[in-house]
Amino acid sequence: MSKFLLHINGQDHSVQAPDEESLLSVLRNRLALTGTKYGCGEGQCGACTVLMDGAATRSCQIPAAAAAGAKITTIEGLERQGRLTPVQDAFLEEGAYQCGYCTSGMIMSASALLHDNHSPTDEQIVTAMNGNVCRCGTYPRILAAIKRAASLSAGGTR
Ligand code: FES
Ligand code: FES
Repeated sequence: MSKFLLHINGQDHSVQAPDEESLLSVLRNRLALTGTKYGCGEGQCGACTVLMDGAATRSCQIPAAAAAGAKITTIEGLERQGRLTPVQDAFLEEGAYQCGYCTSGMIMSASALLHDNHSPTDEQIVTAMNGNVCRCGTYPRILAAIKRAASLSAGGTR
């Protein structure tokens, strides 16, 4: 058991958790940040993606204690004063979801991509999003949403 500080969505959270407990588990089960989803638990689906110091990161694969000191952003931390980011707006406008289970992970990965590359090609988008799985098969609309977000504003999420 360790005690440590996590910096999430601009706020510090004091956490006490077993050394091996994942960041995903701490987010969902200790801090009630349930926008980040549990899919496979094995680093294969991307449902649990958060940003760690700006990089898309599988929170199921990181012990929470190892995330101490990093700037963590979850889906709950993207909006600013009630305004969604261009990526969130574009997902809504394109209807880039069906059940929605993969969506927060998709949006976090897309946000990281567009922060680093304001005008990605289709191929670059597909490559960047390759680790995010959608069981509903909404990939064409996800691609359209990311292209729309790029044309809207080139990210602007962090
Ligand atoms: S739940 Fe983390 S990658 Fe699937
Ligand atoms: S919208 Fe259902 S898993 Fe992607």
